[in-house]
Amino acid sequence: MKKITENIYYVGVNDRNKTLFEGLWPLPNGVSYNSYLVVGEKVALVDTVEVDFFIPFLENVREVLGDRPIDYVVVNHMEPDHSGSLALIRKYYPEAQIIGNKKTFDMMRGFYQLSDGLLEVKNGDTLSLGALQLQFVLTPMVHWPETMMTVASAATPSQQNTTVLFSGDAFGCFGALNGAIVDEQMNCQYFWDEMERYYSNIVGKYGTPVQMALKKLAGVSVDYICATHGPVWHEYVAQVIGIYDRLSKYEAEPGLVICYGTMYGNTERAAEVIATAAAEAGVKNIVMHNVSKTHHSYIIRDVFRYRGLIVGAPTYNTGLYHEMNVLLDELSQKDIKGRLFGWFGSYGWASKAVAEIKKWNDEKLHFQPVGQPVEIRQSLTPETTAQCQALGRAMAEVLGVKS
Ligand code: FEO
Repeated sequence: MKKITENIYYVGVNDRNKTLFEGLWPLPNGVSYNSYLVVGEKVALVDTVEVDFFIPFLENVREVLGDRPIDYVVVNHMEPDHSGSLALIRKYYPEAQIIGNKKTFDMMRGFYQLSDGLLEVKNGDTLSLGALQLQFVLTPMVHWPETMMTVASAATPSQQNTTVLFSGDAFGCFGALNGAIVDEQMNCQYFWDEMERYYSNIVGKYGTPVQMALKKLAGVSVDYICATHGPVWHEYVAQVIGIYDRLSKYEAEPGLVICYGTMYGNTERAAEVIATAAAEAGVKNIVMHNVSKTHHSYIIRDVFRYRGLIVGAPTYNTGLYHEMNVLLDELSQKDIKGRLFGWFGSYGWASKAVAEIKKWNDEKLHFQPVGQPVEIRQSLTPETTAQCQALGRAMAEVLGVKS
């Protein structure tokens, strides 16, 4: 039995088998689907788990409750990694009322054909569990339109008060939980990078709604954050809120991501020249990715982290190299603001890549162009090598680093 506070228990599960979250994002160390029980005079289950894990989930619930019934099931988020067990929970606990907002129930009918025993709440509504109460905070688009958060606290201020925020996907991260649940009981090192990768790829498009949610929660003094993925945050509450604040404002460090596609190494050699010039000009944080080798989710994470981005790719089939096209399309969907952008490209017999990258930036990315694009015909020459060096130096200059 995994107890978090006097009244709150962890009943979630680990998924160590799935290779791609949402069929898109690699899970090298799995993922957890977190669910919680709030046990007062009444019992509330907060979110469920993906349906494949219903049996271990039910065992976790029964370990805490024995034969006690569940009075309420709070649905903070309808994405099936959290709502997938709702219909089965309803079969095992037919008296449980399901709590959500209007948009939650629209989706619930579509996904699970559930339409009775529903209790609709609006922003700020409260629900008494006895000595404890739940308050519902609507946080649309963090990360779907129906998303909300739930705050559990003592019903009267005179009681010993521990405030717990059930935050849905917000503040979550990839990575299964290896035994411990609460941050202070584990080494959290792995989770920091994975929180940024999770945020940038799953929630990254919704920076403005995340900022609005943070403002709504600003008056709440939170002791524990119980997200739907990853550790329960207690020791690092301020740190994880700070990470979300920074990422949702698209703030970045003065570093450089160089991302390239290459078929026979000529474009890669240009990337190396640019990196060397940027490093010699004083850029210390440089990360390089071969777009065909590194999964895009890691590249997107790094673009959220660093202000500078230089991309380059060959021409392919008289267009832009496929993997670069996919990456730029994904980046354009994240609505990232305030990045500095340089680019280069190559061709064997038909010049296209450089023009296509420019088009992506003009029409979709809207990053600030830096330096002069470099176009390489077949292989580097002394002239194009010098142009690559100039591009690296130009990026270093606008990043404001000193050599
Ligand atoms: Fe973890 Fe948006 O679902």
